[in-house]
Amino acid sequence: MRAATFMGQTPADLDPPVRGDPITGDRYYSQAWMRAEWERVWTRVWHIGGMAADLEEPGDYVVHHLMKESVVMIRQHDGSVKAFFNACKHRGNRLALGEFGVGNGLTCSYHGWHWGIDGTLEAVQDVSDFPQGNPCGKLRLNEIPCETWGGFIWFNMDKNARSLRDWLGFVVDQLAPYGMEKMTRVVALTAEVDCNWKIIRDNFNEAYHIPTLHPEIATHIDDDHADTVFEMYPNGHNRMVMKGGCPTGRLLSDVVQAPLDDILRFWELDPAEFAGRPSAARLALQKQRRALAPLKGYRHYSDLSDSQLTDYYHYTLFPNVTFTMAPDGFQVLRSEPHPTDPEKCIFDHWYMAHPIVGRDSVDGPTGTVPFEKAARIVCRHGDRTLGAVADQDLSVAVSQQLGLHSRGFEGGYLADQEKRVQRFHEILNDHIEGRA
Ligand code: FES
Ligand SMILES: [Fe+2]
Repeated sequence: MRAATFMGQTPADLDPPVRGDPITGDRYYSQAWMRAEWERVWTRVWHIGGMAADLEEPGDYVVHHLMKESVVMIRQHDGSVKAFFNACKHRGNRLALGEFGVGNGLTCSYHGWHWGIDGTLEAVQDVSDFPQGNPCGKLRLNEIPCETWGGFIWFNMDKNARSLRDWLGFVVDQLAPYGMEKMTRVVALTAEVDCNWKIIRDNFNEAYHIPTLHPEIATHIDDDHADTVFEMYPNGHNRMVMKGGCPTGRLLSDVVQAPLDDILRFWELDPAEFAGRPSAARLALQKQRRALAPLKGYRHYSDLSDSQLTDYYHYTLFPNVTFTMAPDGFQVLRSEPHPTDPEKCIFDHWYMAHPIVGRDSVDGPTGTVPFEKAARIVCRHGDRTLGAVADQDLSVAVSQQLGLHSRGFEGGYLADQEKRVQRFHEILNDHIEGRA
């Protein structure tokens, strides 16, 4: 199903034409592509640097590395967060080495220069030995744009970047009912994977692979492209909406199957009532969730629409972040480039959840987990599960990376429902070739 009218956008606005730029294998493995992406994309777009909730007190900081660059984000006395390149201005030593820290600023481990939390140099050894004059109060760490939204701290290495709000556009308004900033990161997995970062992007920019790779989803999510809404937004972002609480339109089944049967029972509906018409479960579930949410401790439903109570709203933000929004939480699925190897990437799979009154755990993409701030787990792909669905996706990401080297592959041959893949590569080309 194609785009619907939204916020003054016409269906045509939400389904812009594509040019048909070839999507050949080299962009997934060449060093030249990797360098161009660094110059033209990564240093100019907004990035998630960390969780706002991790910076509780002034001076608390979080560090994020992107390829060989590193950025430190520090909570200020007025509650804002400032971001700085993580390099000492004396002789270039990296300042913050761990992921998190607290205190009254950053002291360089080489010659002991101390930088205050606002980035101002506060103390140096042998201060009278500088012919240029006392550098304290004069030198500042290199500051870059930093904003908070959705519970995340965002940074942009381009000092002239437009605001995050301008960059995201009406995605911000669409996501407001979910209360993302009130959620807790209960799963925080990071893995190095043997594929280019764009392979993971392509995967989340289409749902064509679901019947082959995730056939178990068909019993409770309608993955039929004819029933799915695809919308493409300004700046390269997009949205896909899939109905949940009902089987796929592809499935010729007369009965409610697992796990939808258990979901219905939890919400005090009898699966047998939907015999012969399992797709009717969706609207019944919406109604019942609305009615029983206060009793069952689901306090966060009041701002969600009926559709948001069952359906999956997948947002892909250009260039490299997907949010999969569900009624009780959302997944962050991000791929970032490896520092040196275009055939590797860093994949993050996080899950953000609302608390449920009376429960100390939540159900997420990696199963049931305690409702508490998750410790970060950093691993190699294959060392542990990253969630059943993510494992399925990544198994193919690795084999696709191999296949893309073949002389037999001459560029993608896409279905219409994969149009977001085509558009992603064309927006990327626009950035690389200076048109965006
Ligand atoms: S490099 Fe930081 S104090 Fe010398
Ligand atoms: Fe998938």
